[in-house]
Amino acid sequence: MTTPPSSETKTARHRQSTEAVTPRGGRLWIIGPGAIGRLLAVRIASARAGDLASQGKSSLPEILLIGRQAPSSQETSIEMTTPSGELVIQKITNSSIGSMEYLPKETPMAIWITTKAYGVEDAWATLQQHISSSTPITCWQNGLSAQPWLAEQHSGLLCASTTEGAWLPESHSPQRLPVQHAGHGQTWLGPWATTGMASAASIVDAHQQIDWLTRAGFSSNTADNMQEHLWHKLAINAAINPLVARYRIRNGQLRDRPFSLLVRQAVSEISAVLNAKQISPPPQGWQALIDDVIRTTANNRASMLQDVLAGRPTEIAAILGPIRSTAAQYGLQLPLLDQLYRELN
Ligand SMILES: NC(=O)c1ccc[n+]([C@@H]2O[C@H](COP(=O)([O-])OP(=O)(O)OC[C@H]3O[C@@H](n4cnc5c(N)ncnc54)[C@H](OP(=O)(O)O)[C@@H]3O)[C@@H](O)[C@H]2O)c1
Repeated sequence: MTTPPSSETKTARHRQSTEAVTPRGGRLWIIGPGAIGRLLAVRIASARAGDLASQGKSSLPEILLIGRQAPSSQETSIEMTTPSGELVIQKITNSSIGSMEYLPKETPMAIWITTKAYGVEDAWATLQQHISSSTPITCWQNGLSAQPWLAEQHSGLLCASTTEGAWLPESHSPQRLPVQHAGHGQTWLGPWATTGMASAASIVDAHQQIDWLTRAGFSSNTADNMQEHLWHKLAINAAINPLVARYRIRNGQLRDRPFSLLVRQAVSEISAVLNAKQISPPPQGWQALIDDVIRTTANNRASMLQDVLAGRPTEIAAILGPIRSTAAQYGLQLPLLDQLYRELN
């Protein structure tokens, strides 16, 4: 009769087999354990755990979730509630950005930055000391302030733009990280540099990351022209978020007067800027696209509104800043957007 392996031996073997299949040596670091960071982490880690259980191997990366308040390298559970109300619990290694210098040296396979736009510079100040210039980095921020700045610091930058929705329920335990996946969406990911200018390595990296996302159940595509995708998302955010945050209303109330008139004015100011910048409009036109988003998100409280209500900083600079500076460049006036910018700053 053979002796069953001790749980320690089983753990060691499991660890060995997990390490043996982690591709290109190293984990995927997700910097910013907020709503989007947790959602990405839990879905990729669950898909990887599923592969390991069914096939004994996985080419999906192991995740290291890095935050400001996390303890140093500890196992934590992410508890995700899916849009249909199912609970998914997945163990994950969580670490603090402040304690990185005390951790064993590790070359990450890739880094996803999922802080708010205004948090990227601080995260980068620590991060840059621990990575090489060839590490693929992907920015997940809305707006267009963090990406051009980080592209100056790190070559081969990738960017993602997603309409997945997630928010953070209250949590009282640092060992349990809840996240509500509010709704499925579409994710675009590609090099920051436009077609013809992007390096072959960043195109390969983008395809690999799209593969991870797809296998984790996200509907996702690579994008040849990420800057255009980011401008399109920015246009939608700029037409909706400052108005709902200023007037403390849900998105759907923008269909009523007097707000519907303000939406029209915002769309007219934004589309003049995008025309001047030669960003091609969506096939249905800006007004129809934005009306459609307002209709499909009617019950939502935009994150900018939630930030205002909670007294937190907002992403107003990342969203209206690029529109205001482009308008100044082309001599265009933005009476409504400038006023909203001043009122929300
Ligand atoms: N949530 C969505 O549905 C959604 C959808 C599409 C795009 N986005 C975009 O994704 C980005 C993140 O949004 P979110 O909703 O996930 O924000 P969030 O919930 O506020 O998460 C941001 C996280 O980053 C952490 N952080 C800040 N500075 C850091 C640093 N220096 N090092 C490590 N971690 C740091 C924050 O930690 P603390 O708790 O310590 O502040 C927080 O956990 C935003 O640009 C947003 O516009 C969000």
